[in-house]
Amino acid sequence: MTEGKDRGQCSASPKKKIMTEKTNMTHTTCTHGHPTEGSFESFHISSIRRENPNTQTFVLDRPLKAARPGQFCMLWLPEIGEKPFSIAGADPLAFTISDVGPLSHAISKLGKGDRLWVRGPLGQGFELVGTSHLLVGGGYGAAPLAFLAADALALGHDVAVCLGAKTTDQLIFADVFSKMGATVRLATEDGSSGTKGLVTEALLNALVWELPSSIYACGPTGMLLTVAAEAKKAGLPVQLSFEGVMRCGVGLCGSCELPEDVCVKLGLPGGWLPCWDGPVARLDSSN
Ligand SMILES: Cc1cc2nc3c(=O)[nH]c(=O)nc-3n(C[C@H](O)[C@H](O)[C@H](O)COP(=O)(O)OP(=O)(O)OC[C@H]3O[C@@H](n4cnc5c(N)ncnc54)[C@H](O)[C@@H]3O)c2cc1C
Ligand code: FES
Repeated sequence: MTEGKDRGQCSASPKKKIMTEKTNMTHTTCTHGHPTEGSFESFHISSIRRENPNTQTFVLDRPLKAARPGQFCMLWLPEIGEKPFSIAGADPLAFTISDVGPLSHAISKLGKGDRLWVRGPLGQGFELVGTSHLLVGGGYGAAPLAFLAADALALGHDVAVCLGAKTTDQLIFADVFSKMGATVRLATEDGSSGTKGLVTEALLNALVWELPSSIYACGPTGMLLTVAAEAKKAGLPVQLSFEGVMRCGVGLCGSCELPEDVCVKLGLPGGWLPCWDGPVARLDSSN
């Protein structure tokens, strides 16, 4: 890859100053809506772990001590661009990335010692509620939940996790959660591991056996809506981490705004921005 400056910037121009009511901050952005001033720090990759055929965890060369589970960082590569990625671990900083398009493909091709540019931590993360936690992860949504589970287990809390994927070889982090000491329930769409069906089937089974004080989920919006509905039926608070499209990552461009029907279903205020108000939405059982 091309060597770049320590502090990366999108090359689009002209630059413009923006101030939003929501964030009450002034930023200089490029025409793509990306913040441009001194916001990225360069890290080196210290190790890479393959999670499934198209997903790898990149462990970086130092911690991001301020990072909390559920927060994200913008990752940038020169001449390719930037996208948000959930923080999979803070010390050392780690990201779990599925190779699905231009930026994730370019990151997936990086090797040990290569540089990755990081802006963050950003957004509002999870908050542990009670001492018994049920986590629900779809795809790479398992990664921020592993960070959350590590924090909860270190406090002596109980953690159970439901993980879902299309097939067994697409599942990620099952062994990571088991080794940590969490109870793991699996669901695969082809029935090759665990319950046959979506991860929400594993959630329904878990709710028969577990007595969680709270539920936490990260994955596609459809999955999050089902988890929210089941939590409400069970009378439990739930925290949902959204992974929609983002551009600026700091509440400036409006591109990540949750659709009105999703806000209505979840009882969130209209115009809710995953990058600024979330990505974690905290709902009590009355939402
Ligand atoms: C808060 C947040 C956290 C995120 N955390 C992670 C993370 O931890 N790991 C991670 O890999 N990604 C994560 N993403 C998604 C990531 O930001 C990018 O959208 C993703 O890597 C695709 O970017 P791209 O440039 O490679 O491809 P794009 O050009 O954006 O997408 C290429 C094609 O793949 C499709 N696509 C995009 N994302 C996915 C997907 N997840 N599964 C299947 N198809 C997809 C697109 O619709 C498009 O057709 C997160 C997004 C948000 C908003
Ligand atoms: S990504 Fe720009 S407002 Fe959320």
